[in-house]
Amino acid sequence: MQSALSDSNTVVEANTATWWQREDLGYIDSELCFAGHRVQDLAEQFGTPTFVYSLQRAKANLGRLHTALRDAGFSDNYRILYAMKANRFAPMLTGLNLSGLCGIDACSPQEVELAVSCGFSAADISFTAGSLSKDDYRILNRYQDLNINCDSLHAIKTWGQLRPGAKIGVRVNPGVGVSREGNERLQYAGRAITKFGIYKEQFHEAIALAKECNLTISRIHFHTGCGYLTPQLPQLDEVIRTCLWFVDQCDSIERVNIGGGLGVPHFAEDGTLDLNAWASMLFSHFEGRSFKLDVEPGEYVMKDAGLLLLSKTYLEQKADTLFLGVDAGFNIAPEPAFYDLRFQPLALQQGSGNEQKVTVIGNINEALDVFFRDAMLPDMTDAEFIALLNAGAYSTSMASNHCMRGQLKEYLLV
Ligand SMILES: Cc1ncc(COP(=O)(O)O)c(C=O)c1O
Repeated sequence: MQSALSDSNTVVEANTATWWQREDLGYIDSELCFAGHRVQDLAEQFGTPTFVYSLQRAKANLGRLHTALRDAGFSDNYRILYAMKANRFAPMLTGLNLSGLCGIDACSPQEVELAVSCGFSAADISFTAGSLSKDDYRILNRYQDLNINCDSLHAIKTWGQLRPGAKIGVRVNPGVGVSREGNERLQYAGRAITKFGIYKEQFHEAIALAKECNLTISRIHFHTGCGYLTPQLPQLDEVIRTCLWFVDQCDSIERVNIGGGLGVPHFAEDGTLDLNAWASMLFSHFEGRSFKLDVEPGEYVMKDAGLLLLSKTYLEQKADTLFLGVDAGFNIAPEPAFYDLRFQPLALQQGSGNEQKVTVIGNINEALDVFFRDAMLPDMTDAEFIALLNAGAYSTSMASNHCMRGQLKEYLLV
């Protein structure tokens, strides 16, 4: 691991910080390889900025979740619904559908339509969103088997008019949340009142309304935050405990959807989420109960399955900082800027052991356009390209054309 550093830009004796290395990502003969490809070859072939996604990695991430849930005691009484808001690249969705490893969590009618066009059946899609327009309801109503979760009294009333006699899910807000290091920007429930779900105070009104509308509440849904890792599991435990109150108010619950939120490491000190501890904790709440589990991860499935390939534009010292410019900005990969979830830069050629502190910045005229401050990288003077880790989720799906810099390419590596 990295030895201690004092001044910025100091050249230090250290191993390349390679906490992120794994079977399908690392250096072979000093060349960075990803999903069986030399990354330099990918950058030369596709040009930049380009996102490359590994279908095998996404499938392996899903496989790990299945194994942990099964080992904990869940047999076939659970579903994994990939949250496609994380990454909706159609070839990836098609590959996931063919794998049979997951259904879909969708959050707009357009996502439902895309998922269906990639082969998912409406019965394998869970829909959770708020503030729906009349047009939204009209489109959603075409999919009779869709698992719809209502996140307001208004939604219950509307579905009551559209589909009397139907089963619905209700998204609830337990007033407690869980997120990466308690980051409130990543939290959907907690101290602040949010727009997400129905609170305890109104839940009996929701039950009465559903009854009045001839609807059966068969699912409870909650998603209270994103990016949690092992240290946050006690908070998740509390979230689930709190949400079981809602379940116990109804006598018709068939499924409990605990949302997504499972995080992946962004920094050396993060460590990976202990899936066995996660799954055992879940099982302790579900064991002996008649309802089934739904879980809808986005980040965990897709984030580390993608790299963003960029060209170096310049390398220049300004005051005490060595800046490495790249040919794209935060607008095509907004997470580092929005949530301070920095994307670890990876040199395409392994250095000789000496590293420099480098700040990777983009080409947008905004102060927040920084991909990573003070990354330790080998000498980048002769480097042509750079890759950013963890760009597989919430990058292209959140991208904008800010400064008319929205051009990007995406490729699926199969
Ligand atoms: C309702 C819902 N489910 C699942 C997810 C996926 O979350 P994550 O990518 O953190 O797993 C989100 C993300 O915001 C969400 O809003």
